[in-house]
Amino acid sequence: MQYPRPSKLFALGLASIAAAGPCDIYSSGGTPCIAAHSTTRALYSAFSGSLYQVKRGSDNTTTSIAPLSAGGVANAAAQDTFCANTTCLITVIYDQSGRGNHLTQAPPGGFAGPESNGYDNLASATGAPVTLNGQKAYGVFISPGTGYRNNAPSGIVKGDAAEGMYAVFDGAHYNDGCCFDYGNAETNSLDTGNGHMEAIYFGTNTAWGSGAGSGPWLMADFENGLFSGQGSKNNAGDPSISYRFFNTILKGGPNQWAIRGGNAASGSLSTYYSGARPTASGYNPMSKEGAIVLGIGGDNSVSAQGTFYEGIMTSTYPSDATENSVQANIVAAKYATTALTSGTALTIGSSISLRATTSGYSDRYLAHTGSVVNTQVVTSSSATSLKQQASWTVRAGLANGGCVSFESKDISGSYIRHADFVLQVGANDGSKLFKEDATFCPQAGLTQGISIRAWGYPTRWIRHYSNVGYVGSNGGVHAFDAASSFNDDVSFVVSTGFA
Ligand SMILES: *[C@@H]1O[C@H](CO)[C@@H](O)[C@H](O)[C@H]1NC(C)=O
Ligand SMILES: *[C@@H]1O[C@H](CO)[C@@H](O)[C@H](O)[C@H]1NC(C)=O
Repeated sequence: MQYPRPSKLFALGLASIAAAGPCDIYSSGGTPCIAAHSTTRALYSAFSGSLYQVKRGSDNTTTSIAPLSAGGVANAAAQDTFCANTTCLITVIYDQSGRGNHLTQAPPGGFAGPESNGYDNLASATGAPVTLNGQKAYGVFISPGTGYRNNAPSGIVKGDAAEGMYAVFDGAHYNDGCCFDYGNAETNSLDTGNGHMEAIYFGTNTAWGSGAGSGPWLMADFENGLFSGQGSKNNAGDPSISYRFFNTILKGGPNQWAIRGGNAASGSLSTYYSGARPTASGYNPMSKEGAIVLGIGGDNSVSAQGTFYEGIMTSTYPSDATENSVQANIVAAKYATTALTSGTALTIGSSISLRATTSGYSDRYLAHTGSVVNTQVVTSSSATSLKQQASWTVRAGLANGGCVSFESKDISGSYIRHADFVLQVGANDGSKLFKEDATFCPQAGLTQGISIRAWGYPTRWIRHYSNVGYVGSNGGVHAFDAASSFNDDVSFVVSTGFA
């Protein structure tokens, strides 16, 4: 082939030299994006605007994070600088399509969110670090209770009109709650009936449909039903997913829909279902309403968890060929895992003690009395039993080896876990929930030493409050979430264990 001469390149302009983004590919296929969301990268080669906004706990101010360059990866370093020594939440996920279809904190609906005003929680800005082509970025880590929404977007399709969408998720972060969704939903946050949604679902909920094996599965949330295929509840062609990065696709039009998926880090897409609409009443024709949800069901069901990296919606039915090109683009973005913790290294197998640093409490250590986790005054002359109660063996994280778990020194096989955000020492029952609730991610302390966030609730940190142990969020709804002295209460000095 002939290469353009430099003068010709110059005339083409930089935008045409930069590799096409997913939405450039959809445009070329005649099915342009009408919403484009990502906290990790620009989805158009020419996009250099704001990807998302974060708010920090220290002064409640916000800043917007843009790509490092047009079409590039998010400037995670700008977030790290802004959020240093405090907590940060993702307040807005901007729409890159130019239509203003931004996602913000979901309001109360059929189900109320956990905030005092019924709104859903916002996601931590630091719960889902990854790299793209070696550059650090952050995804949106959705814990139960967290959700984003836009109930009045522009141009999202209604009724039986055709649309398409894709989303890239963490294939290892899911549960069986309802419903970790991205896509088209009701505009009033209520369940208005069958066929009023068309959203990507990912998880192990089996109340309506399922696929092969034990999940998790990609399914379609059409409201009052998660569908893996046409009529029967189980579609053996819808596989259990074990990809760390999972590209999910849903598209639907008049009596026609499809789900497709693939490893977002390599290879191609497979079609899990393509065919007619469900036969149950209300799904043909559809009655789509045209709102957008992320992390929740159409009626604001908030029990699910998952991680979102990027996703888009169209207002026409994309071709398989267009989606295949987008898959290649996502693979070329080179999503990869990176350290979940930074600024500290706890040695697996070592015994540690954790000293409180809050003024007036700095002679107290994180300890337990039976199943209750508390802080107690411990010295070198304390009884052996108390020294053991204030010592913890560092184990590889039960739910995620990138973080750690804390095994009791005196009750072997029992670990610190949170339940309703209160810390307990409990026996490992081997359940997914126990392992997740017993997994913690330490990092450099907000004021000194280390601070330790709950893996499954990265807005929540191990905190002492009235000398009892919690996972507290900075300024949340519980007394133990109080913003006052939060940074000190979550900062602990690590020493060799008393026992
Ligand atoms: C930030 O806002 C929250 C909620 O309105 C409030 O409780 C908290 O005191 C504020 N923090 C600062 C530092 O202004
Ligand atoms: C910020 O955090 C670092 C790491 O824990 C600590 O060394 C530093 O003293 C903190 N700065 C402030 C102002 O708290």
